[in-house]
Amino acid sequence: MAAATSPILSLKPNSALAERFRAARRQTLQICSPLTPEDMMVQSCPEASPAKWHLAHTTWFFESFVLREFLPGYRIFHDDFTWLFNSYYESFSAFPEKRLRSSFSRPGLDEILRYREHVDAAMERLFEQGPEEEALRRIELGANHEEQHQELLLTDILNAFFTNPLKPKYREQENREQGSKGAREQAEARPLVFQQFEGGLREVGHAGNGFCFDNELPRHRVWLEPYALANRLVTCGEFAEFMADGGYRKPELWLSAGWDAVKQNGWRGPLYWSDAGGEWTVFTLRGELPLAQLAATPVGHVSFYEADAYARWAGLRLPTEFEWEAAAEGQLIEGNLLDSGNLMPIPSTNLVQNENGTKYGDCWVWTSSAYLGYPGFRPLNGTLGEYNGKFMSGQMVLRGGSCVTPAAHIRATYRNFFSPETRWQFSGIRLAK
Ligand SMILES: [Fe+2]
Repeated sequence: MAAATSPILSLKPNSALAERFRAARRQTLQICSPLTPEDMMVQSCPEASPAKWHLAHTTWFFESFVLREFLPGYRIFHDDFTWLFNSYYESFSAFPEKRLRSSFSRPGLDEILRYREHVDAAMERLFEQGPEEEALRRIELGANHEEQHQELLLTDILNAFFTNPLKPKYREQENREQGSKGAREQAEARPLVFQQFEGGLREVGHAGNGFCFDNELPRHRVWLEPYALANRLVTCGEFAEFMADGGYRKPELWLSAGWDAVKQNGWRGPLYWSDAGGEWTVFTLRGELPLAQLAATPVGHVSFYEADAYARWAGLRLPTEFEWEAAAEGQLIEGNLLDSGNLMPIPSTNLVQNENGTKYGDCWVWTSSAYLGYPGFRPLNGTLGEYNGKFMSGQMVLRGGSCVTPAAHIRATYRNFFSPETRWQFSGIRLAK
């Protein structure tokens, strides 16, 4: 995943940043705690990476961009790791093909864990010395980078377990709404209501002292016509109506490239939906659940093309990224994010709701905006300039975070981006008009 900056980083005091670093490192291990070493080898789709690779790559980031440059006398853990765990930084070193990451049976997991310990110990020595300003910037970037990989760890393991014939549960259902109701049907979703916005000349992009990635800058003005945004995400029940109405069989609902994707991939429903003799089920990190139980739950794992086709079928449209940002600006960051522990979208009936609907969590919202640099965009200097900028072609922007996004990671100006056929992320639909 991509992201990063330069005049933008917040420069937290050393101690606060050290704590943020440690928390990010702990959280990654905690996410891996239900996994076996064999689970951590699986790479079940081209977009995903094995958990073991995520553990190593996030460590490589600190070794490569912080310790090598800023800790005098730092000893590289293993010469081969410097290229083996590079993801895509062409100006740093060669790197293996992404699709080969599941072949890394060596180094073993124990060695990867020792790599983490080696780097974490060196980072503590750096914190003791009081890192210089650029090192602090890189550490903050590294913590944010690790949080991005925490989300990927979970979306990748969801895909891995979906492809496993035993359909393992990442975690058992806790005594939450969906579990406690058992197989009973869920209550209806809150009524879909549209909140009006005036539009006009608005500023978008990051402002202030907090951290942001380079792709959130510069702040600039955009013109918005008056618009309205749905108070909640489209639910599984609503998406099932689209399917029952022949949504996947009507080319007139689809963008040309989307219709091609439907035919080529044989799409009949969102990723992780299975048709077991007329009864649909949905695979989640909490195992396989009947669709009937998820009627009021936001639909996820749809591509941009499916989101767009659904909106057209509903006589509505997707929001632009700036309509979403203008609506979210100044709102509390609350919602079903990773910290809530649900690990899946939850019914909109259950959300902590402010009057206008929570803008964050459950599923990222596909927008109709192409992922481009803002006017005057400048990538970070040097190798880290490859973090975000080089992906600004052929991808769409998603906003708002998901049920596996750390709450500390998301904000109103945050721009996620994926190619339009992507479905393995928690990507959903918020309608606009
Ligand atoms: Fe990365």
